[in-house]
Amino acid sequence: MSRSAHPAGPRHADVLPEGHYSPPPADLNALDARVWSRTVARDADGVVQVGGIDVKRLAEEFGTPAYILDEDDFRARCRAWRDAFGSEADVFYAGKAFLSRAVVRWLHEEGLNLDVCSAGELATALSAGMPAERIALHGNNKSAEEIERAVEAGVGRIVLDSFQEIVRVAHIAERLGRRQRVQIRVTVGVEAHTHEFIATAHEDQKFGIPLAGGQAAEAVRRALKLDHLELLGIHSHIGSQIFDTSGFEVAAHRVVGLLKEVRDEHGVELPEIDLGGGLGIAYTPADDPSEPRDIAVALRQIVTRECAAAGLAVPRISVEPGRAVVGPSAFTLYEVGTVKPLPGLRTYVSVDGGMSDNIRTALYDADYSVALVSRASDAEPMLSRVVGKHCESGDIVVRDAFLPADVAPGDLLAVPATGAYCRSMASNYNHALRPPVVAVRGGEARVIVRRETEDDLFRLDVG
Ligand code: LLP
Repeated sequence: MSRSAHPAGPRHADVLPEGHYSPPPADLNALDARVWSRTVARDADGVVQVGGIDVKRLAEEFGTPAYILDEDDFRARCRAWRDAFGSEADVFYAGKAFLSRAVVRWLHEEGLNLDVCSAGELATALSAGMPAERIALHGNNKSAEEIERAVEAGVGRIVLDSFQEIVRVAHIAERLGRRQRVQIRVTVGVEAHTHEFIATAHEDQKFGIPLAGGQAAEAVRRALKLDHLELLGIHSHIGSQIFDTSGFEVAAHRVVGLLKEVRDEHGVELPEIDLGGGLGIAYTPADDPSEPRDIAVALRQIVTRECAAAGLAVPRISVEPGRAVVGPSAFTLYEVGTVKPLPGLRTYVSVDGGMSDNIRTALYDADYSVALVSRASDAEPMLSRVVGKHCESGDIVVRDAFLPADVAPGDLLAVPATGAYCRSMASNYNHALRPPVVAVRGGEARVIVRRETEDDLFRLDVG
């Protein structure tokens, strides 16, 4: 194999400063199935294809940056979750990970329910035909208007997050002449092993009602007294991007403990528990996530065991995966603009997007991988940092990655596993225009969320 080092680029052997990277892969052209969606492959010319279309064509037709969503992969993940949990459990896709009307239709067709956490997500779900009874409304500070719209639409459940909200939802349901189905979200006091900003079950944070000190039991007491609420059960979401199921085990143990207390005090067996979302995905080949069927078996076993010990009938379980459904199904396609080797350090490869289309690296120190996708290369691995075009040095897309040393302006790079929390947290920082989401399937590509234009910026700028 011929190897051509970038003239001034550092070689990986020279520099291994502190960082998260693994050693360079044996073959930089290989596309690791752990991080790429299932229809991604290189064609005979070395160009990467997805859904039967090559990325050069996608870039020509739709421009870059663009989120490329592999519809078959997304649908297969929906089915894997649905089949793993079967008919005795419910899977609610967490729309905050990524929501559009096309996605709502796919979810509906594949038999998933939907968790929304704002009026905007609710409106999107309803406008694309998701039946209201298959929607759950979340949020730690839902407005009266959001609650009203949800009750009026007839959502299947509202997850109550505070004492005030118990009363608020009951009043609104009463005014509208409804009996609203609800769950109570509790914090179980688990330290999930994930980034502090996405851990949600320890007590010192804004979500849920603590089990500790009898607060959750008091919330149940109050909800049971209100005629316009039908208390279905208890909800716990311990955090996000979690690999270790022991946190869910502790959560299930404590939630079932509360169900037992409720039975003992009120003679009522609440019929449901929701264990939230949070299952991790592979952002780099070093991550090793569990399969939905293994998670389903583990959760069912834990709940069954805990209920047997407490002398309770096993409640209906629900889960709310977001990232694990959509995250691996998309990659972001960028074009390289500049390549700046810093001898002894690394090479900065600037792409035409950045923190406006993927804030996760800056916000959570998230790791991603990257590949040259418009051609194969047998150049030597070059320690690189893929950065965006925004006006700050924290504008990093991939902190440490090996790219072929002949990467040059005009090449296309793709960052896999960007389906979750990238478009949904995208911004107009520096008046960037948010990229489109292009769905690909069976040799066809279609825009499901279009690229913003300057007219979109001006429409809001009415001064
Ligand atoms: N259910 C509830 C109540 C949630 O709050 C969340 C996520 C989920 C389900 C879905 O969690 P997932 O399966 O997607 O991990 N922006 C962060 C993630 C924030 C998650 C917020 N809640 C990120 O980019 O990692």
